[in-house]
Amino acid sequence: MTVRCAVLGLGRLGYHHAKNLATHQISGAELITVCDPMKGRAAEVAQEFGLPNCTRSPQEVFEDSEIDAVVIVTPTSTHANLIKQAAKAGKQIFVEKPLTQNLTEAQEIINTISEHNVMCQVGFMRRFDPAYAEAKKRIVAGDIGEPIYFKGITRDAGSPPEEFIKHSGRMFLDVSIHDYDIARYLMNSEIISVSAQGKVLRNGFMEKYNDVDQAISYIEFESGAAGDIEASRNSPYGHDIRTEVIGTEGSIFIGTLRNQNITLLNSKGSNYEIIPDFQTRFHDAYRLELVDFADCIRTGNRPKVTEFDGKINLEIAIAATEAFDSGTTVYLNNQNIAVKS
Ligand SMILES: NC(=O)c1ccc[n+]([C@@H]2O[C@H](COP(=O)([O-])OP(=O)(O)OC[C@H]3O[C@@H](n4cnc5c(N)ncnc54)[C@H](O)[C@@H]3O)[C@@H](O)[C@H]2O)c1
Repeated sequence: MTVRCAVLGLGRLGYHHAKNLATHQISGAELITVCDPMKGRAAEVAQEFGLPNCTRSPQEVFEDSEIDAVVIVTPTSTHANLIKQAAKAGKQIFVEKPLTQNLTEAQEIINTISEHNVMCQVGFMRRFDPAYAEAKKRIVAGDIGEPIYFKGITRDAGSPPEEFIKHSGRMFLDVSIHDYDIARYLMNSEIISVSAQGKVLRNGFMEKYNDVDQAISYIEFESGAAGDIEASRNSPYGHDIRTEVIGTEGSIFIGTLRNQNITLLNSKGSNYEIIPDFQTRFHDAYRLELVDFADCIRTGNRPKVTEFDGKINLEIAIAATEAFDSGTTVYLNNQNIAVKS
């Protein structure tokens, strides 16, 4: 069975997912149609990939019996509605992170998905990145002993457009949420408390959305471990993702700044090219997460990152935002949720 997909939202990341599907990078899946309400956008992408169909209306996608699965890559504020409509129409769902922006909507999503018996995978793609996957294996094998400290750095080369920031749910929900997810995964423990600080350093327009372009979260885990997570939109040198897990017997570093495995030496000195953007850094991960999604649909297996992870990560991000707003430590009430290795 080939999974027949539609991509909803054709912006910075939706275009990338559509291209992976259209160019047969996702085994077992094919792109049937694309959807974006912005005038001309869906038609432009459909023409580029030689698709006979495109639409500006998500409703048309949900009503199309030719479509098995939807890949939702729209502004975060639209996720909840689109997921619920897709589930009611019986479509399998891949949705970009974050699942949505508040816990009431997250619970409604969980209920609707269960009621209509469809599958939902959330786009926490780091779990599919080969370096993170290898690190997870090494940690599980005991190569660094017991993980006791998580350190995450996520720096974007610059700010996304103001229109994106407006709908993004603020820094902890939009950016740090990737680190909260991968921290839970690598440390094999739930986050039980968070405190947070942040500031606008370069992008003054963010103040009107109560957002920041530089932030730090301090987290503690149920296991007794701790960690810190930096998030930044101020990295003019490139897209800088670094993670370290420190254990009782050693430490593991994940990620590299190098775009190519070369160093240039000349009369000016030495230098290497830095990864420019998230599409480049996580190219493999974006491909592999959709391969796994299609595979889960074909086999009936459960996705590795579900709506339940989406809700837990959302709880942490909301707690971090509250901690930042109030200047206090916020404690999470999720101790009963088992972390899956
Ligand atoms: N996993 C990651 O690393 C990662 C990276 C970037 C963005 N994202 C997530 O992906 C989502 C989209 O982000 P982006 O940067 O691509 O946004 P974007 O603003 O570049 O693009 C969004 C697109 O969705 C379209 N759109 C708006 N409402 C729609 C609707 N109801 N139906 C269909 N299309 C609609 C817009 O016209 C636009 O073309 C966000 O939730 C974001 O958090 C994830």
